[in-house]
Amino acid sequence: MGAIDLSPLLEKSFRFRAAQSELQTKSLLRERLAVKGRQGRCVHIGSETLLNFCSNDYLGLAADPRLVRALKTGVDIYGVGAGASALVCGRSRAHDELERAVAEFTGRDRALLFCSGYMANLALGVSGLVGTRDLVIEDRLNHASLIDAARISGARLRRYPHCDHATAAKLIRTDTKRKLVLTDGVFSMDGDIAPVAELAQACDESGALLAVDDAHGLGVLGNTGGGVLEVAGMDQYRVPLLVGTFGKAVGTAGAFIAGPDDIIEFLCQRARTYMYSTAPPPALAHATRHALEIIAAEPERRTALANLINYFHDGAAELGLPVPESDTPIQPLILGRPSQAVNVSARLRAAGILVTPIRPPTVPAATSRLRITITAAHTREDLDHLLQQLARLLKPGQRI
Ligand SMILES: Cc1ncc(COP(=O)(O)O)c(C=O)c1O
Repeated sequence: MGAIDLSPLLEKSFRFRAAQSELQTKSLLRERLAVKGRQGRCVHIGSETLLNFCSNDYLGLAADPRLVRALKTGVDIYGVGAGASALVCGRSRAHDELERAVAEFTGRDRALLFCSGYMANLALGVSGLVGTRDLVIEDRLNHASLIDAARISGARLRRYPHCDHATAAKLIRTDTKRKLVLTDGVFSMDGDIAPVAELAQACDESGALLAVDDAHGLGVLGNTGGGVLEVAGMDQYRVPLLVGTFGKAVGTAGAFIAGPDDIIEFLCQRARTYMYSTAPPPALAHATRHALEIIAAEPERRTALANLINYFHDGAAELGLPVPESDTPIQPLILGRPSQAVNVSARLRAAGILVTPIRPPTVPAATSRLRITITAAHTREDLDHLLQQLARLLKPGQRI
């Protein structure tokens, strides 16, 4: 037998390794953690116990014993897997009940469930809402999944400067028959809030369809946790498509699109990420419905969170820390270079605090940051500790 020529393989392997080492050199290589045990105020990684300031478990529900029990009960009733996609035989009573609960929670006619927020957002691009002759208009700082939805749709993509609703309105007025406007509700890396009322107005005037992805506002903002659309008083006639995720404040996993009956039915029949993917585990749907009940019954979680956010802000202002105005749990501390974010993150970790560095391409060049997130599970003492450490590490003149 002749010797196998390994050179193409070696060449490929060299290419991948070179790409990795380039990331390393530029301080852009991501580290994967392996958290032992449950999510919560503290996490355990190896021998470290770290105060967790980077999770999206905003209401502290991810390890709530009632949800753990609900998931176990769901498994007892439904088993583990859904067995098929929703339109074959994977849609169970638990999914049906959760869809109804989401519709009620969000004040929309109906909701459609997806395995993740990423898949829900991609559904907006692969359902025929828009196609190659159409236009998708997006905020420049939208989440990657919304950008990918536009790309995958084949429509022309125009992006407006962050939260610049006047420029957005100009784009929305352009003479294209079908236009889809996509925005984060709360921006995932900045914590600020989209100008949804102005966007809805411009869409109304031009017959464009507006979708708001409120992954980070749902459960957190509004009197009942209805998110940015509740705060802005926008019903499904003003904002026809609302995307929400369960993996953040709700404490479980999965996502939904909610809206008027006819649009949701359209998506149900055509959204490829709905049609061609196994339905989420029914037990998870069962647990998620319980989580929505807890969120509705315990507004004190939102109040505690809002108080902690204010406390953090006052403390940061007193110490002169450059934290921008944000009424949401997402508090970005923009440092600049990737290496600066990596260094400050490492020093915080040495002081027992976990805030993973956020770098390009997740955020624009020169805006690498610590994306600090506050949850209802934190205490004022936790925030004091974080603030003290930040003040120590970011003293004027300090090299980072
Ligand atoms: C704004 C936004 N939309 C969608 C997603 C994706 O949701 P999921 O984690 O459920 O895929 C995220 C983050 O994960 C997000 O920040």
